[in-house]
Amino acid sequence: MKPRILMLALATCGLALAGEESARPSPDSAPAAAAAAAQALGAALKAELEAAVHNGGPVAALGVCQLKAPDIAARISAESGLRVSRTSLRPRNPDNAPNAWQTEVLRTFEARKAAGEDPAYLSYSAVVDGEFRFMKAIPTAPVCLTCHGERLAPEVTARLAELYPQDQATGFRLGDLRGAFVIVKPAAARP
Ligand code: HEC
Repeated sequence: MKPRILMLALATCGLALAGEESARPSPDSAPAAAAAAAQALGAALKAELEAAVHNGGPVAALGVCQLKAPDIAARISAESGLRVSRTSLRPRNPDNAPNAWQTEVLRTFEARKAAGEDPAYLSYSAVVDGEFRFMKAIPTAPVCLTCHGERLAPEVTARLAELYPQDQATGFRLGDLRGAFVIVKPAAARP
C-alpha cells in the first residue's frame, strides 16, 4: 500500500502538496517518513505565511518567506532526522539552487508534465550512495502568482529586488512547475 500525503487545500511559499505519492514502498518506511517531513514543512510554512498575509499583506509575507522558510526547514530537519528543503530550476534564493541530481529530477518532472502527467502527482525517489532521496513537484497555484507570476504589484517587485537581486522565480503561469520539495534520509541514519 502506498503511503498517503496529506492534502493541503491552500499552499504557501511553494508548499503545495496533494495526492498520493508514488515512491515505491520500502522496508524501512523511508518514503512514509519523507512524505511526513514534507507535510510538516508545508503545514508550518502555511501557518506562518497565512498569519503574515493577514497581518501585513504580501510584502510583509515576503519577509516571512525569506526569514522563516530556511528556519522552519532546519527545525523540521532536526526533528525528523531528514534533510528537508525546496529547490527549483529557476530559484529565487540562490541557496535553493539544485545540485546535479536534483536538476536531473526537475528536468524529468518537466518532461513528464509535458507528456501529460498531472503536476500535482509528480514525485520520484531513489537510493543513491546509501541515502534515500525523495522529490515531490510543486505546481504553481493561483496564490503563488502574487510573488512568482508574470505581473507583480510594484511594491512586491521592489521588495524582491532588495531581498533577492538574483531572483529567477518570476514569470510563472498557473500550473507551471515552480519547483520541488527535497527530502533526504542520510546514509548514516540508516539502520
Ligand atoms: C508572499 C510572497 C510569496 C508567495 C505568495 C509565494 N512565494 Fe514562493 N517564495 C517566496 C520567497 C520570498 C522565496 C524565497 C525563500 C528563501 O529565501 O528561501 C520563495 C521561494 C520559493 C521556493 C523555493 C525555491 C526558490 O525559488 O528559492 C519555491 C519552490 C516556491 N517559493 C514556490 C511557491 C509556490 C508554489 C507558491 C504558491 C503555492 C509560492 N511560492 C508562493 C515568496 C512567495
